[in-house]
Amino acid sequence: MSDPAISNNIESHLVENRVFPPPAEFAQRARVGSLAEYERMYRESIDEPDKFWAREASELLWQEPWDQVLEWKCPDARWFLGGKLNVSENCLDRHLSGPRRDKVAIDFEGEPDDRRTLTYAQLHAEVCRFANVLKARGVGAGDRVLIYLPHVPEAAISMLACARIGAVHSVVFGGFSADSIKDRLADSGAKLIVTADGGWRRGKIVPLKANVDAALKDGDGQVEGVVVLRRAENDVTLKSGRDVWWHEAAAEVSADCPAEPFDSEHPLFILYTSGSTGKPKGILHTSGGYLVGTYATTKYYFDLREDDVYWCTADVGWVTGHSYVTYGPLANGATVLMYEGAPDTPDQGRWWKLIEEHRVSILYTAPTAIRAFIKWGDKWPKGYDLSSLRLLGTVGEPINPEAWMWYRELIGGGRCPIVDTWWQTETGGHMIAPFPGATPTKPGTATRPFFGVDAAVVDDAGVEVGPNVGGKLVIRRPWPSMLRGIYGDPARFQQAYWEDYKARGYYFTGDGARRDEHGNFWIVGRIDDVLNVAGHRLGTSEIESALVAHPAVAEAAVVGRPDEIKGQGVVAFVTLKGGQTASKETADALKKHVGTSIGAIARPDQIRFADALPKTRSGKIMRRLLKQVASGQTVTGDTTTLEDLSILARLQASGEE
Ligand code: WT7
Repeated sequence: MSDPAISNNIESHLVENRVFPPPAEFAQRARVGSLAEYERMYRESIDEPDKFWAREASELLWQEPWDQVLEWKCPDARWFLGGKLNVSENCLDRHLSGPRRDKVAIDFEGEPDDRRTLTYAQLHAEVCRFANVLKARGVGAGDRVLIYLPHVPEAAISMLACARIGAVHSVVFGGFSADSIKDRLADSGAKLIVTADGGWRRGKIVPLKANVDAALKDGDGQVEGVVVLRRAENDVTLKSGRDVWWHEAAAEVSADCPAEPFDSEHPLFILYTSGSTGKPKGILHTSGGYLVGTYATTKYYFDLREDDVYWCTADVGWVTGHSYVTYGPLANGATVLMYEGAPDTPDQGRWWKLIEEHRVSILYTAPTAIRAFIKWGDKWPKGYDLSSLRLLGTVGEPINPEAWMWYRELIGGGRCPIVDTWWQTETGGHMIAPFPGATPTKPGTATRPFFGVDAAVVDDAGVEVGPNVGGKLVIRRPWPSMLRGIYGDPARFQQAYWEDYKARGYYFTGDGARRDEHGNFWIVGRIDDVLNVAGHRLGTSEIESALVAHPAVAEAAVVGRPDEIKGQGVVAFVTLKGGQTASKETADALKKHVGTSIGAIARPDQIRFADALPKTRSGKIMRRLLKQVASGQTVTGDTTTLEDLSILARLQASGEE
């Protein structure tokens, strides 16, 4: 432990001793089958990165070969210089000459239980046809297209159709409001919108087209056309001359659209991610490096097999839906399950029923979902046959060790490796995660870096800290799927990621972390959320995990509030499991529990019970808002990404325990 008087580092107190070696049976047939093999390949990828990445890239189809693997002038990276490729050709055409032609690419289930499968040949035809729709409506290479769809096959189809003709897509999550569409339209300058009449969520229709109309009510601006998919069959109005039905426009064009070559650095998409303050950042990704990164990480981390049924539960509106529903799996020729709706419709067993019926073998989801299932009770997963599963993944937040154990036992039957993947919208693909056949796992850590990823925990000066000392997580060299900028804002790009370690050329992730004596990375929380209690710098995630380990607790979020004596006091927002009571006794028990599991310094000054926590639609707890609630301030700043605004009002009204 570091001495706060002489160090500015983040402290770490929670010790995790459970270790799970990769299952022997899994390791035997895995691509990377032992820790020694991982270490050898990792070394090679760091010593000879060009060789490593060239080998991965050469598994894909390039219409013109690259001359140079990397050109790096911090913060500008260019990968596979001079190379030309078509991303959609790699995800589709590449699979058509062999048996994958008739393999299911997308296995879709809608919330109302409608089903549809698309083979690679069928998906290819649909994408080509829609690419021709885009062309017919004046979309060309470099033009931006805003996609605002439910989680249905047409979301992937329209992304791939953009890629086919070099248009740049910007997907806006279907749960976002008219205002979000408006902001993203203005920032991206998109000239065409692809949407649907509506989508299904919890038995209700989300009025997507009406939201688009509301976003355009003060004038179309640069928007020349709106293509509307018929999905929920709710009433919509089409503005003549601007709006067309997808099926009508598609009927007028051919299904033949040759894959043109695009420069490796041609922009592929812009995806907006909420900055903790200020307006959302348009994260820009390009073609060659992004595809190589998502292709390779999907292949190695999910150890994909030809007969896998792969299900990533993320919506296409998030980067996870870009990299690990669409591009990564399709570039690998996988069968991808896509489910449109909510996990509790018609009941809380829906996901487990999906797994049973579609024989899902790989499940990739988020800790927030796992905690919800724990809260809903074991009887749901126990009621279904989950024996088809062979690998489990998580992403999005540090997974609380107790949630990890539940996932392993209840869902994975104790036999599936858990691949906890640390990455970001900005990194494009997985950066730190265990190789399922090689890396021993511990609940709560994403373990060690992917090939070519030079991750480190450093102090404020950029010097690597020793084992178990907290600091800032940086990446010390470029990787292929890294962001190429913030769309239209180079100054913000520089300031947000590169300013802190300018002289060294390190990318700063914004996360606090420590590395243990075995080289495993433990994310302790966002640096902006680190607490300073009487001179001790504490990350949020360990205190939250200690709370979640208490049998009464379903979910917890920890923030600081000003404290005259200690600088900051610890406030914990807690939701309880069913059957538990929010009482002073429970609050005292929880405070005591944190005190004994971590130490007196982390003991919450206040426990506030809540029926739900404010989260973004991708399931991240919005600690920024909780911090304001905890210190009795009015909540300010961007709340447009909040899933349920009423949660906030209830929190503000709720008192102290
Ligand atoms: C931030 C990135 C990555 C796609 C979805 C979220 C946190 C993400 C983990 C993990 C600990 C994680 C980090 C990161 N995070 N995965 N496995 N363990 N923390 O993408 O919205 O860009 O968020 O999510 O804080 O910086 P994002």
